[in-house]
Amino acid sequence: MSSSTNNNFLLDEVFNVKGKVALITGGGSGIGLMATQALAVNGAKVYIVGRTSEKLDTVVKTHGQNISGEIIPITADITSKIEISKLVKEIESRERCLCILINNAGISGSTLQTEAKSAEEMKKHLFDDESSTFEDWCNTYRTNVPQLFFMTAAFLPLLQKASEDQHGYSATVINISSISGIVQSSQHHFGYNASKAAAIHLTKLLASEVANNGLKVRINSIAPGVFPSEMTAGRSGEDQKSHIEKEKYEKVPARRPGKDQDMAGAVLFAATNQYLNGQTVSVDGGYLLHAGA
Ligand SMILES: NC(=O)c1ccc[n+]([C@@H]2O[C@H](COP(=O)([O-])OP(=O)(O)OC[C@H]3O[C@@H](n4cnc5c(N)ncnc54)[C@H](OP(=O)(O)O)[C@@H]3O)[C@@H](O)[C@H]2O)c1
Repeated sequence: MSSSTNNNFLLDEVFNVKGKVALITGGGSGIGLMATQALAVNGAKVYIVGRTSEKLDTVVKTHGQNISGEIIPITADITSKIEISKLVKEIESRERCLCILINNAGISGSTLQTEAKSAEEMKKHLFDDESSTFEDWCNTYRTNVPQLFFMTAAFLPLLQKASEDQHGYSATVINISSISGIVQSSQHHFGYNASKAAAIHLTKLLASEVANNGLKVRINSIAPGVFPSEMTAGRSGEDQKSHIEKEKYEKVPARRPGKDQDMAGAVLFAATNQYLNGQTVSVDGGYLLHAGA
């Protein structure tokens, strides 16, 4: 007798993103580019958004050819409500709905020395240091926290439409937070880590309120460990991909930074698993095990 359910377990069934419409902020480099490739190579139509058109155009030229999906660039600064509204209008004019929104754009802010031998020395590093300012905290927060809130709120109608149009499917928001929002160490950047903890909590708040209102949009977050990007490597190459030395991450149980495939697996899982909602999934090679949460 042959199984009547085996087909439910095929990779093409479980992780199917063919024909889905996605929007990824910061899709021009690092983790956003990994997410873009993961979806577009497997047949999704992916709009990538960033402030620098050259980066986005390079991604389309280099990674958007001969794939079953599509990559389409749109320039916007998503820390402005006016720009977010324009972005919604732009997508509305081209698409009936939005299936996957990945709020990935983020910035890191300045770093401070935290090690000190006395209270006076600690105050010197954390308060007197010229780069330690309210502005630095607020800039980091603006990009990493309220941006997720306004992007998600603005795209809710298009996301809900995707769920209504496709029986058995729920549209999804994936916020790229960080293990920095979970570790007990400041990692020399208090503002960034506090912003990522806020992003994780905001994910839960949004998922809960959206569900309370009977809307069918799942909201989760992926908390990456260390992955090569413009943020961690300082630059990217001609193909917009970045590289970091493996040797610097010997203490991580995986003994290496994250790879394209590690992020691809996480993105495809969060994008397709219809039963995942309100969660944060850490993909960190065991970083949290080592660093302590
Ligand atoms: N790489 C890691 O190890 C790591 C670990 C944990 C979490 N994360 C998180 O992953 C996300 C992606 O960062 P990444 O590491 O991949 O760094 P990245 O290469 O610097 O990517 C960030 C992207 O966001 C875009 N962006 C920044 N501000 C924007 C704005 N206001 N409007 C539109 N786009 C904006 C940037 O492009 P433009 O400058 O051209 O706008 C850039 O392409 C961030 O949220 C980061 O906190 C990264």
